[in-house]
Amino acid sequence: MAAPYLRARQSLTSAFRPRIAPRIVSQRPSFWALGNTAFRRPASTDSSSSSSSSSSSSSGTDSLFLARLRVFLFGGSIAASLYVAYYYVTDTRASVHRWLVPPFLRLVFPDAEEAHHVGTTALKTLYSLNLHPRERTAGTNLETPGNPLAVTVFGTELRNPIGISAGLDKDADIPDVLFDLGAAVVEVGGCTPLPQEGNPKPRVFRIPSVDGMVNRYGLNSRGADAMAARLRDRMRKLARDLGLTERDVFDGEGTDGIPPGSMQPGRLLLVQIAKNKTTNERDVKAVIGDYVRCVDRLAPYADVLVVNVSSPNTPGLRDLQATEPLTRLLSAVVEEAKKVDRKQKPRVMVKVSPDEDDETQMEGVVQAVWLSGVDGVIVGNTTKRREGVVPQGVRLSAKEQRALMEEGGFSGPAQFDQTLKLVGKYRKLLDAYSLQSSSESDAGAATQKVIFATGGITNGDQALRVLNAGASVAMIYTGMVYGGAGTVTRIKSEMIDKLSVKAA
Ligand SMILES: Cc1cc2nc3c(=O)[nH]c(=O)nc-3n(C[C@H](O)[C@H](O)[C@H](O)COP(=O)(O)O)c2cc1C
Repeated sequence: MAAPYLRARQSLTSAFRPRIAPRIVSQRPSFWALGNTAFRRPASTDSSSSSSSSSSSSSGTDSLFLARLRVFLFGGSIAASLYVAYYYVTDTRASVHRWLVPPFLRLVFPDAEEAHHVGTTALKTLYSLNLHPRERTAGTNLETPGNPLAVTVFGTELRNPIGISAGLDKDADIPDVLFDLGAAVVEVGGCTPLPQEGNPKPRVFRIPSVDGMVNRYGLNSRGADAMAARLRDRMRKLARDLGLTERDVFDGEGTDGIPPGSMQPGRLLLVQIAKNKTTNERDVKAVIGDYVRCVDRLAPYADVLVVNVSSPNTPGLRDLQATEPLTRLLSAVVEEAKKVDRKQKPRVMVKVSPDEDDETQMEGVVQAVWLSGVDGVIVGNTTKRREGVVPQGVRLSAKEQRALMEEGGFSGPAQFDQTLKLVGKYRKLLDAYSLQSSSESDAGAATQKVIFATGGITNGDQALRVLNAGASVAMIYTGMVYGGAGTVTRIKSEMIDKLSVKAA
């Protein structure tokens, strides 16, 4: 349920200004001068000239003191500069994350997939050294009273309504880095039951003039067993840090209500599952077997399982959005998720395509959602459509035009209007079905289905608009590719600014 976003709240108190290291204005001795002064012995050691000896020894002591002071100041200023540099670079608000890193990666790595791997490997390494960018913004923490961005989803109060969409961390290598960038929701995957390579490379293409991308990865995945092993290791480590065992986490013992998937207060870990390419999409039983296998392996480590039936790059996947097969598939996943040996069972959502947007198709999805008992819908994915992608007045280079016409799914800001429209429509249809079924069954008002929105969201205004249209979480991917590691922080700060203006 979307939060009441028009509540009054504190505004951001100050813009980020990197602190400047105090500059030493006194003459800085060169290394050689220091060496000479510090280690020079008194000129004379002759006892007959004691007065000159004592004055020279006192001047020797003075110069030793001065030399040490200089070393101290020199070393101190270097340490202070390093600290300021560390503090600046590891803050998501630092402009280098937006204006330097993404263009640099584009320049040095013409292949977008390679750039992605370099970026994620760098983040993983920096995280292991505690040198990764992280959000330090006050005001959107759970502890902050009256946090204007807090939202309750599936009974958990989230710190904010911003999520990172599937595909950015396909194999769950860096979920904690992504949480540290400020997102309250991170979706890892899509993960298939067996490992698969995906489509031949190149399979990701940039269109920088419209901040867009085309990809046809084809759900490359290291498989459910490998992802489960990584998530299990992560859970055990985080549990150990809290003085708990994995069993404690499963039983909710001593966890203080922390979601068992994210293992962090106010955050949810979503795990997306899909079928293998080689599984015949017309054999619904086999397809269900693929998803159930993923649930069996991955559900213990997820707060929410996301059933992907909307990637455009796996042949026949989107056909699973027809009411009958979708109802069967989702029902099987919901049943399997209930079997997980954990006190708090994972919720289930389904991610639907932005291209299946006629009324009948959408009503069919809504029906399947209600009949199967899934908890919500992620509205949006990449699109096969290309019309309206290039705004008037923007000219694409020949390379960009070719990229745009590549086979695959397009993502970028141009998708936003369709996302907003679909969120509004799904909200209405889901709520209408709920009212109808509760009055028919007399079972009391059914709970509202949750909507997350994805597709073209790149700023705070857009995030607020999808939330006001009925979504509980706004998710981003391509916006981060072009906006860098500070994108989530920026979007949240823009939301807070906008809310402050409205409330004033
Ligand atoms: C390179 C790339 C890989 C993606 N991989 C997946 C995926 O594995 N599963 C999925 O459901 N969506 C995937 N997506 C779609 C995104 O999760 C997102 O729904 C879509 O890009 C629209 O959001 P955006 O405009 O913020 O990028 C991928 C998108 C991109 C650009």
